This record gives sequence, C-alpha cells and structure tokens, in this order.
Amino acid sequence: MTRVKTNPIVALASAMLLLILAIDGAGQSRASESPASVAAVPKAEEVYRNVRFLRGVPYDQFIPTMYMFAESLGVECDHCHEANRVSDAKPTKQIAGKMLQMVERINRESFDGSPKVTCFSCHRGSPKPVDMPVLHSTEGKSPSDDAKNNRRTFSGVLPTVDQLIEKYMTALGGAAAIQKISNRVEKGTVNQNRPGGGPLTKLSVEATAETPGKRITKGFSVTHLGNSPDAYGVYNGDYGWVREGSGPVRVMWDSRRDAAQLEDTLNFAPHLKQLVRRLTVEQPEEIGGKEAYVISGRMSALPLVRLYFDADSGLLVRLVYHTESAVGPVPTQIDYADYREVDGVKIPFRWTVELVRSVHLTYQLDEVRQNVPIDETIFAKPSPPPPMY
Ligand code: HEC
Ligand code: HEC
Repeated sequence: MTRVKTNPIVALASAMLLLILAIDGAGQSRASESPASVAAVPKAEEVYRNVRFLRGVPYDQFIPTMYMFAESLGVECDHCHEANRVSDAKPTKQIAGKMLQMVERINRESFDGSPKVTCFSCHRGSPKPVDMPVLHSTEGKSPSDDAKNNRRTFSGVLPTVDQLIEKYMTALGGAAAIQKISNRVEKGTVNQNRPGGGPLTKLSVEATAETPGKRITKGFSVTHLGNSPDAYGVYNGDYGWVREGSGPVRVMWDSRRDAAQLEDTLNFAPHLKQLVRRLTVEQPEEIGGKEAYVISGRMSALPLVRLYFDADSGLLVRLVYHTESAVGPVPTQIDYADYREVDGVKIPFRWTVELVRSVHLTYQLDEVRQNVPIDETIFAKPSPPPPMY
C-alpha cells in the first residue's frame, strides 16, 4: 500500500488549501463502491486504522480535527505523532485522547452536547495552558479574536445584502462585462510561509476556470514544469475530484468543493447568492485601517461563510469560512489584494490563505488571459467515479 505522505508541494498545489486536509486522508485504500455524491460519508474508524476516541465522526472531519489540535496547541503534527500515525507511542497522543474525552464530557454535561469548549478554549496556541491570567499579552490571539476586537457597533444605516452584492458586481466591472468572460486562465506562484518565519516552499500554479461553475487548479514544483502537475483539484458543478502527487484520484469532500467554489473568482461573484445561502448583514469591521461591510451565510457543507467588502471600493477584501471538525469549527481566512483590470473586469492578483499556523499561503499571479481556447477534457468527470478515500 502506498500512503500519500505530507508534502508541502501538495499542500500548495491546490488553489485551495483544502487539498492539504486530504493529504492524510488516504488511510487504507479500499475498493470504490458507489458514486460518492450519493454514498453516505464513511466514519473515521472505517477509513483510519486506530481510531478509539473519534469514532462516529465523519471521516472528512477527521483531518480538520487534527488541524484543530495542532492549531490549538501551537504545535506540528509530530508533537503527538511518530512518522507512522497509527502508532500510540507518544505520550502526548495518549494525553490528547484523554483530553478529547474530557472535552466531550464538559460539552455533554454543561452545554447540551454542543461543542462550546474546544481544545483552543484552554490551550490558546500553547501546549501547556497557562493557569493564571496573562497581563498585557498578545499571545494566544486567534484571528477570530482580532475580528472581535475590530468589530464595533455601528449606529448608521447599514447597506442591505443586495446593495452590497450589487456594489461588488459594479466594482468588478459590472454584470455585462463579467458576462462577456467565458473562461479565465491564471498563472502565478504560491509561497508557503510560516507566520513570523521565512518562506518554506514555492511553486507555480495554474488555474483555469470556465462558466458556469468549472475550475481546475494545478500545482507544479519548480523542478518539474512539465505538462503533468504534481497535484490538482477540479470541480465541475457540484462534483469535485483531486489528485495529490502521484497518488490516486479521489473525490473532493463536500466542504472542499464548497471552498473551491468560493475561491473561483470567475464564477463566484455572479452566483454568490445561489452559493452562499441565508445571507445576513453583520456589523462592519476594520481591515487594514479601512472600513469593511460584512455579510455572512452558509454553504451546503460550510456552516459559516463571512464576506468582507471594502466600504469605499465595494470590492471583496476578505473571506472567512468555517469547516466542521469533531472539536468545533476550523476557520480559514483569505485576504484579497492587488486588484487589476483585465478585459474590463477586476481580478485579485494576490491573495493569502491562512488556515492554521503551519499553513499560510500567498498567491501572486503574473498573468491572466480570458476567453481563450480551452481543452474541455480537463473538466471531464473521471469515469468510473473515483473512490472517496
Ligand atoms: C494533540 C495531539 C495531536 C496532534 C497535534 C495531531 N494529532 Fe493526529 N491523532 C491524535 C490522536 C489522539 C489520534 C487518535 C484519535 C482517536 O483514536 O480517535 C490521532 C490520529 C491521527 C490519524 C489516524 C491514524 C490511523 O490511521 O489510525 C491521522 C492520519 C492523524 N492523526 C494525522 C494528523 C495530522 C496530519 C496532524 C497534523 C496536522 C495531526 N494528526 C496532529 C492526536 C494528535
Ligand atoms: C479545560 C481546559 C483544557 C481543555 C479544554 C483541553 N486541555 Fe489539553 N491540557 C490542559 C491542561 C491544564 C494540561 C496540562 C498542562 C501541564 O501539564 O502543565 C493539558 C495538556 C495537554 C497535552 C500535553 C501537552 C504536553 O506537551 O505535555 C496535550 C497533548 C493536550 N493537552 C491536548 C489537548 C487536546 C487535543 C484538547 C482538545 C481535544 C485539549 N487538550 C483540551 C487543559 C485543557
């Protein structure tokens, strides 16, 4: 059995960091049974070999849960794991199991089973929680803390959801100009950085989007600029699939497909209201010293999506979404910058994706071409359908 190993290249290759979440999703390979979109999501214990505490958790929430562990404790995977992640040799892994039971008990007994207390509640980014108040410290802040601090009460009349979306469409160039674009090919690079540290990896990315609702993102390591990418992720309507490294093609989890749709700058804006449902206006926030209007809603597999529009320009400057895990939602934040006009339509040429401390990606486009001939086969759904894991 070949296991797909964690590989920063793979991590970078997806225009969405969500590819990363699948890296350890390989587990034991099993025969593909039925098309994934109709099959029930398998349980963690059906996919992974040594699951004692997270039994019953949908397998697509398992690796996000691991990311929550790492993020909450401010550690890397190897804090609890040996190279073979099945092993229980590390005492920290055993403690983490006990902690899971404790957290489950607290939430069951005190919060009617809703995941109010998470690993982060106590750990706040450190392996050993502090047991006394910290004075004047900025340690242990999460992006959501920042968001809370930036949230102020706004007494004026806020724009409505429709007004904000309309202003956004106008800022992008207007519905008519957007409609004239049938495809978009973006080329650039992506750097993985460690916040506060230096660059880790860099690779080339290429994304091709087509209307309606199709996009493929490919990642190439610098040493390998051939035709075949090191990894790719495709979505075509409601169906997505990915391949990491030389591993097998697998179905994209629903949460990753939603995230891929969010990141598709060609298709997202005109279909925003179909994709993100139950939109409501929230209090404005400040981003980089500028006021941003905020709307939030949900997608089919993402319980929360929050969109931030620059109050002056109307452009989307930030996007935050939550992925479910067994220990509460895992936030991802995308900041858009360097909007440039191509064929009458504004496109962000730079964006950063922040998931957990170990995953911080900066995309920079060098080139965007639109309405070019496209080989349709790149969006062809794999047949027979690939396995889920
Ligand atoms: C705080 C400790 C901790 C950290 C950090 C951690 N894990 Fe885990 N991991 C666990 C525990 C505990 C289990 C077993 C869960 C259970 O039994 O339900 C586990 C199980 C796993 C498994 C299942 C192995 C198998 O087949 O049985 C994988 C895969 C895994 N972790 C990947 C990761 C990855 C990837 C990271 C880094 C993003 C990570 N873990 C970070 C504690 C941790
Ligand atoms: C109610 C508070 C609380 C919560 C919630 C909590 N922990 Fe802990 N955790 C602690 C305390 C306290 C310690 C012990 C620190 C020490 O030894 O000084 C600890 C220690 C640990 C350690 C050992 C760290 C080391 O390096 O020795 C691990 C691993 C750990 N916790 C994982 C988790 C995980 C995973 C979760 C979520 C499932 C979690 N904890 C939730 C309070 C908490």
